[in-house]
Amino acid sequence: MRNQIPRTVVVGSAVVIITLLVIYLFTSLPKGGGTTAQQASFTGVDKCATCHQRVTPDIVFQYASSTMAKSGVKCEDCHVVGKGNPMGHDHEGFFITSTPTPKQCARCHVRETSEFEHSRHAGPAWMALTGFDDFSPAQKELTKSIAELTRGPNGIPTATRNAIFDMEGPNVTPAACQSCHAIGKPNKDGSIGNCNKCHLRHEFSLAQVRKPEVCGQCHLGPDHPQDEIYKESAHGVMYATEGDKWNWGQKPGRLTTRDLPAPTCATCHMSGFGGQGTTHEVGTRLSKFLFAAVSSERPNGPQNRLAMQGVCMNCHSQPFIKGVYERADSVTSFVNARVEEATNIINGLIKDNIITSRPFATQISFDAFDLWHYYGRTAKFAAYMGGPDYVQWHGVYPLLKQLNKVKEDAATLRAEHRRGTRP
Ligand code: HEC
Ligand code: HEC
Ligand code: HEC
Ligand code: HEC
Ligand code: HEC
Ligand code: HEC
Ligand code: HEC
Ligand code: HEC
Repeated sequence: MRNQIPRTVVVGSAVVIITLLVIYLFTSLPKGGGTTAQQASFTGVDKCATCHQRVTPDIVFQYASSTMAKSGVKCEDCHVVGKGNPMGHDHEGFFITSTPTPKQCARCHVRETSEFEHSRHAGPAWMALTGFDDFSPAQKELTKSIAELTRGPNGIPTATRNAIFDMEGPNVTPAACQSCHAIGKPNKDGSIGNCNKCHLRHEFSLAQVRKPEVCGQCHLGPDHPQDEIYKESAHGVMYATEGDKWNWGQKPGRLTTRDLPAPTCATCHMSGFGGQGTTHEVGTRLSKFLFAAVSSERPNGPQNRLAMQGVCMNCHSQPFIKGVYERADSVTSFVNARVEEATNIINGLIKDNIITSRPFATQISFDAFDLWHYYGRTAKFAAYMGGPDYVQWHGVYPLLKQLNKVKEDAATLRAEHRRGTRP
């Protein structure tokens, strides 16, 4: 007897749970009839959604939960385009595009689109691959007007085709460089880039885009390990251990430390937070061109630095932040000096006709590239973003080792050249 009571309870609970599940499934899944108020608003009103509830139910379901759907934005607002649009085609009596571009978003989001177009996430990201080859004259003009395009005397050139891009060629680059850099690819309708790279369709969720994984899709790996550095930082630890309790859905511009007690990539680089307004111009809080071989100051460097520090100051004291920046600037100077040393060695070999000036034609050219592109960059990024292991063991130490290799290899090349044994 004593054993049977719990058994009845178990069976009873199972029946209740299954009944609740069935009720839940019937009321929450997208179906022809449309059960929630949200789906009901589509049925009949939005012809696309009515039919697509059968064709692609997940898309309708996902979209129905978005803020935009709740504000009355319909499928056709993004997908239906003018007859002259080169990206459009006929579809069930409509003229639609299957890849809405910023041109469609801009009808309602003028400010975000303009900021995005004036950031390095737009034109410059694609220029980094093929120069201006794929740009219309208007797209080229827009891109040239970006403040953050100026690099100072030591910047790496971008308006030319990238040597690695051409070396790897079309069998590789569509699945590699192009996938990430398409965030700024010029579109045939005249617009630039793809908002969808961060605002994943069809939820367009703020909670999602504020989390570091969204940025980490592209900002990872040995040449730009921002995702890994963030994971190592105290901020990343707070996010990983307590982030599930934070208020991710707070309205744009209203975020404070009460919502997010530690910052994510978006908080520092984009979000309206404390006194700083939201921006899609991701360069406006950066003071140096850290991605360049030798890092120089950005056009509005000092002002940008104050903007970023304004974000830090919501949670830290001024002396603390001053200290972080002083230590990071010092790492940057150290790296700059070592990269310049390596560059001088390579330039000397070219000048003396020991190696060709063509990039990646000799082993030493690859080695000198890794020196700044992997180790130098990593050390600099990590110094500003709180990743000591990346400053040290993934940054400065391998950089010094690599510099030593470049020096020894250059000496060998010179000796071979003198003896006439170099092919
Ligand atoms: C009468 C049904 C019906 C209507 C109405 C309809 N679609 Fe479709 N749609 C389909 C079918 C069927 C497919 C093909 C799905 C597949 O191949 O998996 C499709 C595919 C698509 C695609 C992807 C492929 C492509 O052709 O670009 C998009 C985007 C799309 N529809 C958007 C829309 C939009 C936006 C509307 C409203 C302006 C709309 N549809 C209206 C049935 C419909
Ligand atoms: C806020 C703008 C927006 C709205 C509203 C919107 N879409 Fe989309 N849709 C997009 C974007 C952006 C893409 C992806 C474009 C790309 O791949 O670059 C897309 C892609 C699609 C695709 C192609 C998916 C694939 O992987 O092939 C279909 C089908 C589609 N949408 C249907 C719909 C339907 C149905 C609705 C309404 C329930 C809808 N969309 C509402 C922006 C929107
Ligand atoms: C027809 C007008 C319209 C178009 C086109 C449109 N949006 Fe929206 N969008 C809105 C409205 C309205 C809101 C809700 C604003 C609010 O509630 O503050 C919104 C909100 C958003 C939000 C914030 C979501 C949130 O949870 O607060 C994002 C992100 C967004 N849109 C991205 C896009 C992208 C990307 C595109 C193009 C692919 C696009 N929108 C196209 C009208 C539009
Ligand atoms: C995983 C995504 C990803 C892939 C794949 C990728 N990149 Fe990048 N690339 C980035 C990111 C992110 C940055 C920004 C680094 C920064 O600012 O710290 C960047 C920066 C650059 C830069 C420096 C910025 C500039 O405008 O000069 C160049 C050049 C570049 N990438 C070229 C390439 C080439 C060529 C390939 C393929 C051989 C490639 N990238 C593959 C994500 C990627
Ligand atoms: C690099 C990633 C990224 C790209 C690309 C991007 N966004 Fe955003 N967007 C964000 C982030 C992060 C937020 C949230 C900011 C915050 O925390 O409030 C946001 C917020 C928004 C909002 C709500 C902001 C507000 O103040 O109401 C809109 C609307 C929006 N984006 C539209 C767009 C449009 C349109 C594009 C393309 C032209 C675009 N975004 C491209 C990352 C991105
Ligand atoms: C689809 C790939 C992709 C995603 C997703 C992405 N980025 Fe980027 N990001 C890039 C590329 C490529 C560059 C380099 C552009 C260039 O300088 O040529 C870049 C550059 C940057 C820069 C440097 C800008 C400058 O002026 O030098 C910052 C800061 C940045 N991204 C932050 C973010 C944040 C924050 C997010 C997430 C909210 C994000 N990115 C999401 C690809 C991406
Ligand atoms: C605590 C704030 C903070 C967080 C969190 C943060 N960053 Fe940064 N980030 C910075 C600072 C500070 C710099 C250096 C700014 C300067 O140049 O003055 C920087 C530099 C960068 C750069 C280098 C741009 C260049 O010049 O090459 C990129 C790209 C970037 N961050 C992306 C990210 C991504 C992606 C994440 C999340 C994975 C992230 N950041 C998290 C503060 C932050
Ligand atoms: C939303 C609040 C918030 C913002 C904004 C913020 N931080 Fe933090 N930060 C924290 C918290 C919380 C910790 C963990 C505190 C601890 O170490 O006990 C932390 C820790 C740190 C640490 C590690 C401290 C240590 O003792 O190890 C550094 C360095 C740091 N932050 C730098 C910055 C910089 C630089 C900025 C701006 C670019 C910034 N933070 C922006 C909340 C923030």
